[in-house]
Amino acid sequence: MNNVEKTASSYVDISKLNLTDFRNHSFTKIETDKKFIALVGRNGSGKTNVIEAVSMFSSGKGLRGAQLSEQSNINGNGGWSIFMEVKTAKGITKLGTGIGNSQMMEGKARQCRADGKFLKSSREFNDYIGIIWLTPQMDRLFIGQRTERRKFFDKLVCLIEPSHEQNIKDYDRLIMQRNKVLVDLDNKKSWLDKIEKQISKIAANILISRQIATNRLNKIMDAEVKNNLFPSAKIVMREELGDINTRSSMIEIEAQLQELFFQSRIRDRDTFRTNVGPHRTDFTLYYNKNDMYAENCSTGEQKNLLVSVILAEARVYQEINNGISPILLLDEITAHMDNERVSNLFEQIGEIGSQTWLTGTSEPLFDFISDKADIFNINNGKLSYKGV
Ligand SMILES: Nc1ncnc2c1ncn2[C@@H]1O[C@H](COP(=O)(O)OP(=O)(O)O)[C@@H](O)[C@H]1O
Ligand SMILES: [Mg+2]
Repeated sequence: MNNVEKTASSYVDISKLNLTDFRNHSFTKIETDKKFIALVGRNGSGKTNVIEAVSMFSSGKGLRGAQLSEQSNINGNGGWSIFMEVKTAKGITKLGTGIGNSQMMEGKARQCRADGKFLKSSREFNDYIGIIWLTPQMDRLFIGQRTERRKFFDKLVCLIEPSHEQNIKDYDRLIMQRNKVLVDLDNKKSWLDKIEKQISKIAANILISRQIATNRLNKIMDAEVKNNLFPSAKIVMREELGDINTRSSMIEIEAQLQELFFQSRIRDRDTFRTNVGPHRTDFTLYYNKNDMYAENCSTGEQKNLLVSVILAEARVYQEINNGISPILLLDEITAHMDNERVSNLFEQIGEIGSQTWLTGTSEPLFDFISDKADIFNINNGKLSYKGV
């Protein structure tokens, strides 16, 4: 699948989107055949809610990480649903997701469907559509909590190495089990041997997937820098893995990890947590030009660094998906960006070919793309078409 030449016939674009009782949208319907969809309106009008709805067609909880019940329109009957039509070279795919009031009360998961068929989970949407987002909340990513950074980074990895998602889930579950068993360390040695062996196997896979994704992203960021106003950066992982050599073979990494967990038992028991392993990894970006790590760069620079990563992710996605570009959701992206960069950003997105959903508080922000965009005004959860 790698390096398949992009053809005009490789695309996945949203052509219809219906929200029913989702957040402040009691019923909103959007139709488009454009590459850019701009949502314009005052603060609190419901712009981010629309792109949050789009983000529900990926695994997990969407771009706000919200609970299902928070997403139901407070004036509705308790449930919500989102439907979309996706245009591809092979025809139209219909995707739907949502939850009814009674299912929500019973604590059930939201339902996901593709062309009328039920999917096992939202993760299966990834087989139909790739979605990448950037929101203002992520502005603090490099100075905020390590967990948030790792989650963001692992999400990038998942789109490149799909097995990563299940590995992370299984790994986290096993680490929790290990922490419980450690309390009774002296009586549970053979049990710990067994679980640490399992953990090490998954951990090795996690490390390798992260490495593969990092190498691909770094290669793209390096190559694209010449025609790009966004900074050239390098993903750097900060591991808590002792002296493990992550460049050795899978079998050797596994063995080293197992030894690492073994050696860490007493400390882990005394601190009630597992202190080593890929769940402790932090990541950052190294900004080549400033010779500096992202957390020390200015707020604007940090944002631009994130844009670099997102664009690289879109390009890598395309490389491994037969030239199909992911959908980009960019919330308030132009808010603090100079005009030159805004224009360069849209140029690059045009090159990648991603259908892109943008929000902003005023229309002039989208002057650069007005000939390629559908612009909608939103007021109080109601949409009106503004034209192109
Ligand atoms: N479950 C809900 N039901 C109704 N309104 C909601 C719900 N959740 C959020 N809202 C409202 O949606 C509005 C925020 O929408 P949002 O899309 O974030 O605005 P913006 O246009 O600034 O991006 C707020 O007024 C908020 O009160
Ligand atoms: Mg918003």
